[in-house]
Amino acid sequence: MTYFDWQQDSLLAENLSVQSLAENYGTPLYVYSKAAITDAFLSYQNALKDYPGLVCYAVKANSNLAVLGLLARLGSGFDIVSAGELDRVIAAGGDPKKVVFSGVGKTQAEMKKALEAGVLCFNVESKAELHRLSEVALSCNKVAKISLRVNPDVDAKTHPYISTGLKENKFGIAIDDALDTYRVAAALENIEITGVDCHIGSQLTEVTPFLDAIDRLLVLIDQLKAEGIVLKHLDIGGGLGVTYQEETPPNAGDYLAQVIEKIKGRNLELVMEPGRSIVANAGILVTQVEYLKPTADKNFAIVDAAMNDNIRPALYQAWQAIEPVTKGSSEAQAWEIVGPVCETGDFLGRDRKLAIEAGDYLAMFGAGAYCFTMSSNYNSRPRACEIMVDKDSAFVVRERESFSDLIKGESLLPISE
Ligand code: LLP
Repeated sequence: MTYFDWQQDSLLAENLSVQSLAENYGTPLYVYSKAAITDAFLSYQNALKDYPGLVCYAVKANSNLAVLGLLARLGSGFDIVSAGELDRVIAAGGDPKKVVFSGVGKTQAEMKKALEAGVLCFNVESKAELHRLSEVALSCNKVAKISLRVNPDVDAKTHPYISTGLKENKFGIAIDDALDTYRVAAALENIEITGVDCHIGSQLTEVTPFLDAIDRLLVLIDQLKAEGIVLKHLDIGGGLGVTYQEETPPNAGDYLAQVIEKIKGRNLELVMEPGRSIVANAGILVTQVEYLKPTADKNFAIVDAAMNDNIRPALYQAWQAIEPVTKGSSEAQAWEIVGPVCETGDFLGRDRKLAIEAGDYLAMFGAGAYCFTMSSNYNSRPRACEIMVDKDSAFVVRERESFSDLIKGESLLPISE
């Protein structure tokens, strides 16, 4: 079910015309669908059936407070990678006791804050981090619950920048060193071992790499058990892909059914950290065509959104569908959809066959995940406005930035004659 659908020639976001939203709120504009986020989250939640588990939404995919607040009310936990993300979860009404803290570079201050908030688990990525966490926990008289992020060395068959489960990646503890690292953890003060986790990459379109990774972790879990280290939970990370173009990823229900089949009877709670598959297709980026610039080589459509609003095409050569929000009758031609930023890499789409004119609004699909959160102010461009649609209503969930936002905290040097 998609919540961005066509009614005759007009694109709707739930029940609202995207053309009207663009006219009312201006562009570039992020539009999210509350129902789409809710459905995607519930597809995970419902797939658990009565298997004990927790869906920890990966905040980095889309950290808008309204998104986090919606998910918190649906019962979601959260996967965070910084103190800033923890603050957002708390500000949105999320429960810190349902938070797992991932990331290779947790600072002492971040550890302290997370311990005081009472997070569910630290997903530890190295021995050095384990020692630091033990010291911080001791100093604030807390016990840190931990899982080791194990790198199972499986090929996730995804873009190299978002593949994280191979030996050569910076992430996790090599599976061959995991047993030894658990022994170190077991001997450390103020550390309580509760689980094991892995995250092998993002935008995976097959279940096999996930299942292979779980197989390797189950071997480890058995070895630990033989040494008297009994784990309570298995965290399978995020990574389930979505359809941007013609990918056919499994749905959350089929995926989880296979995972549960593998681990049932083992008395292991199942934790997962999906990001993209909850929000990517719940958002679009709306932009207006400023100029059409046909040249001898290529036709450029210069739009008012740019790589600072969505860096995915420039960074990963990511492909996201682009369509006019109101279909006209002119003839389609191939266009390079580019932004105003002074970089050749500033494009949103290449060689797109579209019937467009200056002034038209275009929607870029699949823009709910890793688009706004990776946006910047490059070229002193204010960040876009974000709105959330709920049936017939639209709510501004982040105002468009202004010049004062751009220079917040900056100052001129004192004048010295
Ligand atoms: N857990 C951990 C430890 C992660 O590193 C990530 C994503 C997730 C969960 C969520 O994964 P997801 O379900 O969203 O695939 N910016 C890139 C994606 C980077 C993903 C980083 N880690 C993109 O735009 O494609």
